[in-house]
Amino acid sequence: MPNLYSERLRLRAAERSDIPLFVKWISDPEVTENLMLRLPMAQAEEEIWYENMLKRPEAEHVYVIDIKLPPLEPDGEPQWLPIGNTSFISIMEIDRCAEIGIMIGEKYYWNKGYGTETMQTMLRHGFETLNLHRIWLQVYPTNPRGIRAYEKAGFRHEGVFREGHYQGGRYLDVKLMSILRQEWDQISSTTKGD
Ligand SMILES: CC(C)(COP(=O)(O)OP(=O)(O)OC[C@H]1O[C@@H](n2cnc3c(N)ncnc32)[C@H](O)[C@@H]1OP(=O)(O)O)[C@@H](O)C(=O)NCCC(=O)NCCS
Repeated sequence: MPNLYSERLRLRAAERSDIPLFVKWISDPEVTENLMLRLPMAQAEEEIWYENMLKRPEAEHVYVIDIKLPPLEPDGEPQWLPIGNTSFISIMEIDRCAEIGIMIGEKYYWNKGYGTETMQTMLRHGFETLNLHRIWLQVYPTNPRGIRAYEKAGFRHEGVFREGHYQGGRYLDVKLMSILRQEWDQISSTTKGD
């Protein structure tokens, strides 16, 4: 699968060597607070997850989000720093629908627009390369940062799984957001100035 590039980031295939970083991110309660992860995950379990991920269709493989840093020397190559990951989940072949997930594990890089830019890059890939028709996601109402980032990327509010998740001793609603191909086409033609 080819790397995907945008102005400030690159999405590249996750390597085995990224596994310790993934374990570090999902061991941080502030990062996982808004993810559907409840139990600690050992490196060995993450390695099994990685092997299983490789057996899924290529379009569902995990991308690492690398941000572009200035070159160390004038005229040198840019440096790339991994800050999180993203993937499509369960692409439905006939319906052309896919769920999308994202985690920026390096908290220093929250609120700097990278989540929005990652989503925009994945939407372009999903609609214009994978020929998806609908991309959707689940987010907790207690995650305003996520909701705002998804709205900025073009996702619309769709509905709620009432009390769909148990966390912190209570049931939480789970919000559904989605974007259709025609909505994406409209956004991208406005951006391109068509
Ligand atoms: C959710 C996540 C992907 C968002 O990415 P991000 O790069 O931090 O988000 P962005 O900078 O693109 O956009 C965040 C927006 O939320 C706003 N925001 C942040 N905290 C907020 C709050 N408490 N209330 C309202 N808006 C808030 C920011 O101001 C920004 O909006 P603006 O550009 O209009 O000012 C990222 O923070 C993350 O991965 N968090 C940990 C795991 C997670 O929550 N994953 C998603 C599960 S659905």
